[in-house]
Amino acid sequence: MNKPNQFTGYIRHGALAIAFSIFALTKLNAQTIIPIETAHNALVLEANAKKEVNTIFFGRKLTDKQEYTQVSSQYKQTEDYTGQLNSAYTPSGSRNLVEPAISVTHADGNNSLDMKYVDHTVAKVDDNVSLLKIRLKDPVYNFEVTLFYKSFYKQDVIEQWTEIKHNEKGTVILNKYASANLHLKSPHFWLNQYHGDWAKEMQPEQSEITHGIKTLDSKLGTRANLFQPSVFMISMDKPAEENAGNVLYGALEWSGNFRIDLELDYQNNLRIIAGMNNYASPYNLKPGEVFATPAFLYTFSDQGKGDASRKLQNWARNYKILDGKGTRLTLLNNWEATYFDFNEQKLAELLKDTKKLGVDFFLLDDGWFGNKYPRNSDNAALGDWQENKKKLPNGIASLVKEADNIGTRFGIWIEPEMVSPKSELYEKHPDWVVKQPNRPEYYFRNQLELDLSNPKVQDFVFGVVDRLFTKNPKLAYIKWDCNAVIYNAYSAHQKNQSHFYIDYVKGLYNVLQRIRAKYPTVPMMLCSGGGGRVDYAALQYFTEFWPSDNTDPLERIFIQWEYSYFYPAISTSNHVTDWGKQPIKFRTDVAMMGKLGFDIVVSKLPEKELQFCQEAIKNYNELKAIIWQGEQYRLADPRNGSVASMLYVNEQKTEGVIFNYLVNYRYGEGSKYPVKLNGLDAAKKYQIREINLFPDTKSPIDGNKTYTGDFLMNIGFNPVLTTDRTSVVLKFEEVK
Ligand code: DGJ
Repeated sequence: MNKPNQFTGYIRHGALAIAFSIFALTKLNAQTIIPIETAHNALVLEANAKKEVNTIFFGRKLTDKQEYTQVSSQYKQTEDYTGQLNSAYTPSGSRNLVEPAISVTHADGNNSLDMKYVDHTVAKVDDNVSLLKIRLKDPVYNFEVTLFYKSFYKQDVIEQWTEIKHNEKGTVILNKYASANLHLKSPHFWLNQYHGDWAKEMQPEQSEITHGIKTLDSKLGTRANLFQPSVFMISMDKPAEENAGNVLYGALEWSGNFRIDLELDYQNNLRIIAGMNNYASPYNLKPGEVFATPAFLYTFSDQGKGDASRKLQNWARNYKILDGKGTRLTLLNNWEATYFDFNEQKLAELLKDTKKLGVDFFLLDDGWFGNKYPRNSDNAALGDWQENKKKLPNGIASLVKEADNIGTRFGIWIEPEMVSPKSELYEKHPDWVVKQPNRPEYYFRNQLELDLSNPKVQDFVFGVVDRLFTKNPKLAYIKWDCNAVIYNAYSAHQKNQSHFYIDYVKGLYNVLQRIRAKYPTVPMMLCSGGGGRVDYAALQYFTEFWPSDNTDPLERIFIQWEYSYFYPAISTSNHVTDWGKQPIKFRTDVAMMGKLGFDIVVSKLPEKELQFCQEAIKNYNELKAIIWQGEQYRLADPRNGSVASMLYVNEQKTEGVIFNYLVNYRYGEGSKYPVKLNGLDAAKKYQIREINLFPDTKSPIDGNKTYTGDFLMNIGFNPVLTTDRTSVVLKFEEVK
């Protein structure tokens, strides 16, 4: 039980809490209603007479706010024995019987926790953004949690996180520390989740949620999303469709281990508990220290998946992704063109090809560094970030200069968190390497991580980037790769090994913050041997991400499709490569659906293919503002038929582009029915013409005809896909 001094402490704090509650009581008769309203939705919390904060409503908002308190009376479900099933932040070890949001071991060894309302404040950050803080306190222990809800009114998005602190007489161990704890009511819940592997990112699965707990999690440390990302959808009642249904999208803003528990409780309500994964990570918190959890992000729509994703994309561009409202650079990359086999002469040719092709810059990939152990394959040199003297006798500086001379720009690949066992860095600093001191090393792609929880390693990693820019101020771009997961998690720096996974990610963010403080806008690609690492915490520091090493355009249609639910096109780097059997037109059309790049040997392109690419880049430059900043509508789902169709339209609904593909090449397949457009103005008139035509081919589409938005959205338009025309790009414009 409590020590007397802690009890005294409680009386003091308790008195304070009562003072706040009385204030609340006079306002609202034993309850404090705390609504978080956005343009269409509401999350409504209630601090009841017992000072417990519970969720009483989540969904499309009601016209009359007073009626939120009537909602629960209309549900005749079974009894809640704990009175805590809908807790806004479920504690454990007292009367709770379900999955907790938080569990602790107090300084005196006791495991119980209760959380009572103290007060709340709402601050308006600007016209669109509000920040609600709710303070909760244990009545017995001097232990406090603040719940934060940052709401974005227009976008219907909420970011939720917590701060945990205490003033006990010693260290408290945090055993679980969720960011958010939602409570939803519906007769049925459907989960859309994703799984994957290298080159197979974002494979979707849909299932009805059954009783018990379904956990989405990662224990990979770095590259945390390789097998499963933290993004998911919950449909209420029945599976949401593109343009209909109730659907919540969730995602954790954290680039390390995560854990999302979806518990369908015995009352048939869904409890969502999301946060960093507590796997191998009980966290010691000293008195007075604040432990902040990352944000859990969610949006809700009663208009289906399309509306939810447009809200999220809009939010991401406006508030999260670095330079989300800005522009991006097209590029020529040499990874698949040369792999590790290049030298200065070859690169000089590629620089000329960059110019010839018409893209904005050249990106030098892996293989440019290491001297004692040259980087000629993936088994050496990570950590030795000095130019290889044989391949690049005049260094990066001469290439940056050469690019400048011929009127293009130069970017570079790094993988600065990693170390090869065959490297000078490993020899010099074995204590910087993540590995067990008494077990054999085990490798992922022949490499190990540097221990980013160590400030000295953070300095080193920052230095890798800083030196590149200091030596080459005109460097245009960084591709930041991360090809390994963490095995044998152990830090020679950490006193408490159970802090390692969390402190690694904090160390990574610390480095990225330092980079952004000094180089705020330089574009950087977040790559992890594909999309194994993308999340909205990382994207605060990166302008774009690499969704997958799988660039087979047919595969890519499916991968990009699923990413598009959660991430806007401006953040999705797509490259034209030699993967797949499709013609260059198909490959280029697919890559144009996000941020366009090329990774091919330009000098080997037949004349007409080169001509096609040059024209396509010009078209892309005209359309990119709409692809990056416009509204995206998924028209035909490749998983539901033979056609994939995606539309982008500008804000004024006067101009846009539709990408159409045949994804099934069986005899007689084609677009037999019109594809219904979306997002247009029914009253406006439009003309549609085909672009990105391969030289010497003609379009069967008459670009002079005029259609109303009404016709195009109700009857549709046929892109005339056939087994000979598997990829069709249509540009539409308002005519007056
Ligand atoms: C994995 C990336 O996804 C590729 O694009 C390439 O950069 C290689 N790493 C280089 O090692």
